Amino acid sequence: MISRVSSIDFVVNGTRYRNIKVKPYDTLSRILRDELGLTGTKRGCDYGGCGACTVAVEGMAVYSCMYPAQYALNKTILTVEGLAESESEFSREALSEIQRSFLENGGLQCGYCTSGVMMSTKMLLDDNPNPNENDIKEALAGNICRCTGYGRIIDSILAAAKMKNSAARTK
Ligand code: FES
Ligand code: FES
Repeated sequence: MISRVSSIDFVVNGTRYRNIKVKPYDTLSRILRDELGLTGTKRGCDYGGCGACTVAVEGMAVYSCMYPAQYALNKTILTVEGLAESESEFSREALSEIQRSFLENGGLQCGYCTSGVMMSTKMLLDDNPNPNENDIKEALAGNICRCTGYGRIIDSILAAAKMKNSAARTK
């Protein structure tokens, strides 16, 4: 049951936020975008149909447009901004392997779906570092892309897995 708290604490991309005011009908996507300024999380359909708003809550991919903000109380959230090494600096080096791979393999066109797709990719690769094409298609079942036809997205994810694995080997 949703309790009628008017403020919540949570951690987003490693930063602890305190006393964020939320109304009972607020969604996590609204709070992330409008209150925290994390506009990398997109709003496409706002009803759970497109996946543009995908973020991770406690390591699970969720549609933030459907996720009541009050449920985020004391939870740990990751958004696309948190994938990069540094949110303040925009440079190729600061990007994560997933972001670099999409850039280098043409995994995006208009980019509207991309942050959601990358978050689903992050959840997939955390779970399965060597996915095959079918694993990727399954992981992207909740993300709609109207531009790319998915081919380059799949190539980008396969390349990101390789990049991450070789980075892990050299550590
Ligand atoms: S905006 Fe959340 S699923 Fe479309
Ligand atoms: S790149 Fe345009 S919707 Fe996916």
